[in-house]
This record gives sequence, C-alpha cells and structure tokens, in this order.
Amino acid sequence: MVGGPVEKFNPLKPSAISQKRERQTDGKWAKQVAIKEITLEDVRHDAIEFGLATEVLAQVKAGKEASIFIAKWKEHPIMLKAYRLWRSAQASNERGVFTLAKMQMLAAKEYDVLKESFQAGVTVPTPIGRVGNYITMRFIGDGLDPAPQLKDVHLENPNQALDAILEEYLKMYRDANYVHGDLSKYNILWWQNRPWIIDVPQAYTVGPWANMKEVVFLLRRDIKNLLSYFKRYGIKRNLDEIVDVFLSEYVPENLRHYDEVVPFRGV
Ligand SMILES: Nc1ncnc2c1ncn2[C@@H]1O[C@H](COP(=O)(O)OP(=O)(O)OP(=O)(O)O)[C@@H](O)[C@H]1O
Ligand SMILES: [Mg+2]
Repeated sequence: MVGGPVEKFNPLKPSAISQKRERQTDGKWAKQVAIKEITLEDVRHDAIEFGLATEVLAQVKAGKEASIFIAKWKEHPIMLKAYRLWRSAQASNERGVFTLAKMQMLAAKEYDVLKESFQAGVTVPTPIGRVGNYITMRFIGDGLDPAPQLKDVHLENPNQALDAILEEYLKMYRDANYVHGDLSKYNILWWQNRPWIIDVPQAYTVGPWANMKEVVFLLRRDIKNLLSYFKRYGIKRNLDEIVDVFLSEYVPENLRHYDEVVPFRGV
C-alpha cells in the first residue's frame, strides 16, 4: 500500500508514518490488527521526529478519540492533539475498527476546520501543523496553564458572553461554512474575556452538497446545548429565533428551497 489519502499531503513524505505503521502492524494491513495505545514516550518521539514540537511536556487529557498534550515549540507553549491508535475489544464491537487512516482523517479534518475558521476571523486556536494523526495548535491560556472550559468559569456578564459565543458561532457558520456538531460547555474555552471554540473534527460542511436537514438538526442541537447551559444564569432565549437568524444569514445558493422539497417536520 502506498499510504492513505492524508499521507500524500504530509510534508515529511510517507516514510516516517509508513515506517511507524509497519512497526506497529508488523507489516500487515492496519485494518486487520489491533494497534496499541500510544504512550507519552511514543508521542514525544513522534512529535519531535515529525517536527511538530521541540518538547512534549505532559498529557492534559485523554478524551474519547484523542489525547491532548502540552508541548513546546522552542520557548512557546503549544497544544498537541494525538488521535489515538487503538482498538479495544469494546470499540471494535461497538464502533468498528479504528484504523490509522481514520485517525489521520480526523486530524486532517480538525486542521482544515480550524484553519478555515481562523481565516474567517473566528476565535479558535490557530492550527500550526499536522502530520499523520497529530495536530498542533495555539495554546489557549497563560504560561503553561490552559484556559478553563466554559463549564468551569463564573461569568460576570453572562448575557454578553452568550452573545459573544453566538457571534463566533455565526461567523463559523456563515463565513467558514461549518456547523460545529459538538458545541458544549466543554468545547468552549474562556480566555481573555472571550470564548474560544475548540474540538472541531466532527464539524459538518455547509456547502452546495450539504444535506440542509442535517445542518438544521446539528445547528439546533448545538444552540440548544448552549442555551441550556445558560439557564443557570437565568437566561432564556428563543431557540427557533436564533436558528432562523443563522439560516437567514447563510444557506448555500443551490439549497435555498431545501424545505419546500419535503415538508420540514422539525427535529
Ligand atoms: N488549544 C488549546 N488550548 C488550551 N487548552 C486546550 C486546547 N485544546 C484543547 N484544550 C484542553 O483539552 C481538552 C480536550 O480537548 P478537545 O475537546 O479538543 O479534545 P477531545 O479529546 O475531543 O475531548 P472530548 O472527547 O472530551 O470532547 C479541552 O477541553 C481543553 O481543556
Ligand atoms: Mg472536547
């Protein structure tokens, strides 16, 4: 095999990643074998070899599919996200086999969504680099202290904060043409009195080939999540009105009449 689709775009050529895959899979197809979980040592070795970081300091978190590390590029703190190469018996039964190629796709997707959102002026961590299943991005926080998640801050001006989040999300939707798909109190960081949207690999592209019903479903779910979080501050807003504002700002030209084809029954 000559490498997956992502590999073609790797600045380091196929070598490093293919070699790693060969090492981990004993030369067999990645699909057919369980790939062990990566350790801090693996990550440190890879990130430095791939030129993504000069140091990897510590693991911050292990999420469902990715592990997050604080790293450095020379003296600058950066965030390193590793889509993990593992397959537990449970994962393979329930969700299918995780292959290296899939992990690379997720990293590539997250890089692209961050880049396009950043270029559209959304406050997201600027992506820095991506090789294989690794991505680096701007470190949001002070010194080596990561910024808190929305769930862990007490907002002085919750109304303004909600407006600011909706404003960022609207830019992401209208100008970068993505619905986030997993917007929550966990995936918004609060730093320098602004919201920073993170964790975007599952974002859905709102382009000419989009399924607008899917778009509306995801948009509604994201905004509903957000509004239910703000209830603790006694804030009530109208979900449908907000969704309508988003849709009035942007629907791909060819999909303008999507809801006339089959009556929209709501979600
Ligand atoms: N650029 C960043 N700067 C500072 N902290 C970050 C950054 N990116 C991620 N984090 C921290 O790491 C946590 C996990 O990141 P992220 O949500 O991207 O990964 P995840 O593995 O998909 O998490 P989950 O599965 O829990 O959603 C974030 O909630 C945040 O606390
Ligand atoms: Mg997350």
